[in-house]
Amino acid sequence: MQLPNYKQAKQRIKENVKIENYENSAIYQELGSGKTYHLKTYGCQMNEHDSENIEAMLEQLGFTKEENMEAADLVLLNTCSIRENAHNKAFGMLGRLKHLKETKKDLIVGLCGCMAQEEGVVNEILEKHKEVNFVFGTHNLHHLPQILKKHLDTSQQQIEVFSKEGNLIEGLPVKRTSKHKAYVNIIYGCDKFCTYCIVPYTRGKQRSRKKEDILKEIQQLVKDGYQEVTLLGQNVNAYGKDLENNYHMEDLLEDVAKTNIPRVRFMTSHPWDFTDKMIEVIEKYPNIMPFIHLPVQSGSSRILKLMGRRYTKEDYLTLLDKIRNRIPNVSISTDIIVGFPGETEEDFKETLDLVEHCKYDNAYTFIYSARENTPASKLLDETSLKEKEERLYRLNNIVNQYFLESNQKLVDKVVKVLVEGKNENGKTDLYGYTDTNKLVNFDGDDTLIGQIIDVKITNAKTWSLDGKISEC
Ligand code: SAH
Ligand code: SF4
Ligand code: F3S
Repeated sequence: MQLPNYKQAKQRIKENVKIENYENSAIYQELGSGKTYHLKTYGCQMNEHDSENIEAMLEQLGFTKEENMEAADLVLLNTCSIRENAHNKAFGMLGRLKHLKETKKDLIVGLCGCMAQEEGVVNEILEKHKEVNFVFGTHNLHHLPQILKKHLDTSQQQIEVFSKEGNLIEGLPVKRTSKHKAYVNIIYGCDKFCTYCIVPYTRGKQRSRKKEDILKEIQQLVKDGYQEVTLLGQNVNAYGKDLENNYHMEDLLEDVAKTNIPRVRFMTSHPWDFTDKMIEVIEKYPNIMPFIHLPVQSGSSRILKLMGRRYTKEDYLTLLDKIRNRIPNVSISTDIIVGFPGETEEDFKETLDLVEHCKYDNAYTFIYSARENTPASKLLDETSLKEKEERLYRLNNIVNQYFLESNQKLVDKVVKVLVEGKNENGKTDLYGYTDTNKLVNFDGDDTLIGQIIDVKITNAKTWSLDGKISEC
C-alpha cells in the first residue's frame, strides 16, 4: 500500500527526470481474457488522453470494451479534482457501483486520475468504500497491469499512489478515440501553483518530453493520415523550461508545423509565458490554427494577485491586443472564475469590463470551489453562494452574447472545416470544426469524414454554426 502525501506533492526537487520505456509484461497478457471493461472519464483533455492509454493497456491484457456499465466485469473511474462537482460525481458513481456489486459479486472496481492523488479521497475510500478494489495515481498509470494482477491474486484492496512525480514514460500503448485528430502530451505537471488550483499537487512538477519523442509521435500520426494534432499540457508555453537545451515552445511549434500535419493546435497557454516569438511562429505557419485558449480567470488585478496568476489586467490586455493585431481572424477563448474569496462587486465589475473589451469567442466560466490543501482554501470567503450564482449568471449573459456576435461574423463566409463525424440525432448529417475551433453542422456524405472541406456558413447560433458544402 502506497498512500498520497501532500507534503511530497508540494515539493519541487531539481533532480533530472528519467525517461523509462513502457514494457507490457507478457505474463499479464491473459489477465482480462474473456472479460469486459467500462471506463468513465471525468475532467480535462489530459485525462481524456490518459484514458486513451488506459483503454489500450486494458485491451493488451485481453479485456474488451463494454458500453453498458452494468454489464462490464471491470469498471474504472478516471477522476478529476478541479472542482467539488467533479469530485461529487465520482463519489456518486461509486455509490452506484457499491449497489451494483451487491448483486454482482465479481465486479472489479478501480479508481485512478487526479482524485487518487488526494489524501482526503484515499482516506475516505479506505474507510467507507470497500467496493473499490484498486486505486492508482497519475504518476503510475503504467503500473495498471501489475496493480490489477496484485488485486486478482490476493483479492485485497490495492492502493498505489505516488506523490513524488515518477519518470517520464514513453511508449505507452494508445487507443485513439478519433482517426483524424490526436492529442499529444508535450509537458506534464505544473509549477505555477495558482492559489486556488489543485493540479500542481495532483499532476506533480513540470516535466517536458524530449522533442525527439514528440516529433516522432507526430510524424507517425502524419503517416497514419491524421489531420490534426493538439499539443497538450497544463501550461504548454512553459515547454522546455525544465530541459537544458534552450529549445522552447516556439521552437517546438515551428518543428511540429514543419511535419506538415494539416492542423496544429495547443492548449492550455498561461498568459505569463506567452512570448512574442510564439506569436511570430503562429503568424508564419498557416497550419498552426488561429485559435488560442488564454485563461484570464479575473479582470481585477487585485484578485489576480491573490490568485497568484503573475500578471495584471493590463498585462493580459496588452498580450491579447497584440495577438489580435498580429494574427488575422484569431479566435480567443478563456476561463473565468467568479466568487474567488474576497471578490467584491467592484472586482467582479472589472471582470465584466474586461469581457466587454475582449469579446471572447468562447469562455468557460466557473464558480470558485475551495480545494483541499490549496492556499486559497484558507482565505476568508464571505460571499454567499447565491451572490456567486448571480455573478455567474450575469457574466454568462454577456459572454454568450459575444459568442453569438463572433459567430454571426462568419455568416455567408466560406470556411475550412475538418469533418469529424455523423450527427446521430441532429437535423444535419455531419459536423466538424473550423480552423478557429467553431462547431459547424451541415448536410453531406459520410465519405467526407476525415477531410478538410470548404463550407459556406448559412446561420449562426450561440454555440454552433449551420453551413452548406461550398460548390466553389
Ligand atoms: N492550466 C490551465 C487550467 C487548468 S484547470 C490554466 O492555467 O489556464 C481549468 C480551469 O478550471 C482553470 O482555468 C480555472 O478557470 C478553473 N479552475 C481551476 N481551479 C478551480 C477552482 N478551485 N474553482 C473553480 N474553478 C477552478
Ligand atoms: Fe492550475 Fe494555475 Fe497550473 Fe493552470 S497554471 S494548472 S490554473 S496552477
Ligand atoms: Fe481535472 Fe486533473 Fe485535469 S484535476 S482538470 S483531470 S489535470
